[in-house]
Amino acid sequence: MRPILWDQKGLLLLDQRLLPWKEKYLRFKTPAQVKQAIKKMVVRGAPAIGITAAIGLVLGAERIKARSKKDFLAKLKRIGESLKSARPTAVNLAWAVDRLIKVAQSEDLSVDDIVSRLRQEALKIWEEDIEANKAMGRLGAKLIPAKASVLTHCNAGALATGGYGTAIGVIRAAFEAGKEIEVIADETRPWLQGARLTAWELKKVGIPVKISPDGAAGSLMAQGKVQAIVVGADRIAANGDVANKIGTYSLAVLARENQVPFYVAAPCSTIDLATSTGKDIPIEWRDEKEVLCCVKKRIAPRGVSALNPAFDVTPNSYISAIITERQVVKAPYEENLAKAVEA
Ligand code: MRU
Repeated sequence: MRPILWDQKGLLLLDQRLLPWKEKYLRFKTPAQVKQAIKKMVVRGAPAIGITAAIGLVLGAERIKARSKKDFLAKLKRIGESLKSARPTAVNLAWAVDRLIKVAQSEDLSVDDIVSRLRQEALKIWEEDIEANKAMGRLGAKLIPAKASVLTHCNAGALATGGYGTAIGVIRAAFEAGKEIEVIADETRPWLQGARLTAWELKKVGIPVKISPDGAAGSLMAQGKVQAIVVGADRIAANGDVANKIGTYSLAVLARENQVPFYVAAPCSTIDLATSTGKDIPIEWRDEKEVLCCVKKRIAPRGVSALNPAFDVTPNSYISAIITERQVVKAPYEENLAKAVEA
């Protein structure tokens, strides 16, 4: 299950728009093509778009024709800014691009050497992400009861990351540790990441999964059918407010009402200490067609329009803990998230 491949000829992305029907890779050679792939959700999920953008920047660096190193760095920065604008909410995208730009600017190297350093750094971001997922899995699995139905929203698995997954990584690690786990995957309208991607991934690794309509979550919790909720994150503000797939906020409120623990699993690259609270997180609104149509068929009457905010913000007070690769962070989040990031 490898959403991203990178070889001599460029970048290959598993087209997530076609799953679970077809497993097809598309090739991307330029940063402009990579930006479109992120925008159109060939690849999606916060860490995965960060890794993809980093590779996109390297593809750009390899093609820059520059008169001087200064000219090269100016052009590299422009490509980075363009990649960063592909999707606004997941901070991993800007974080990965900025990390590469910093490497390019900080080292006293020739242009050729910078390009090879950028290649190494992009690979490092990717490897670190897989390691972080595994570490979150080890720490987070301890929070899951020995026998549990765990509800998750959207797709925060191998497809959304460098590999293994954040929220799904925690669930996988609990399962691999011998716990009796069943997953309830919210279908996640409108894009259906839960029904199409999470169910596909879990089936591949042999973890029992049932798809549930988003609106059923509260009722399932009230009936005692959910022992824990684990979701991923697109950006975590300094105070612990969490932006994640639309519908996450409703889940968290319902979890509080029904005394179900609500966990967020995300690497430190998703924590944005420069953004004070959830109110400051830019929320992406996508094309209304994603709501008005389902699997390319219009499901609403002609002439009716739709609202399509792709993410929402869950206030920190609803979150039982944030599982990072370094530690399980609990309230007070402002203080403890800063400690985790600086650890
Ligand atoms: O619009 P998407 O599919 O990119 O949204 C993805 C999510 O909301 C995920 O939950 C989040 O990025 C965490 S992925 C490890």
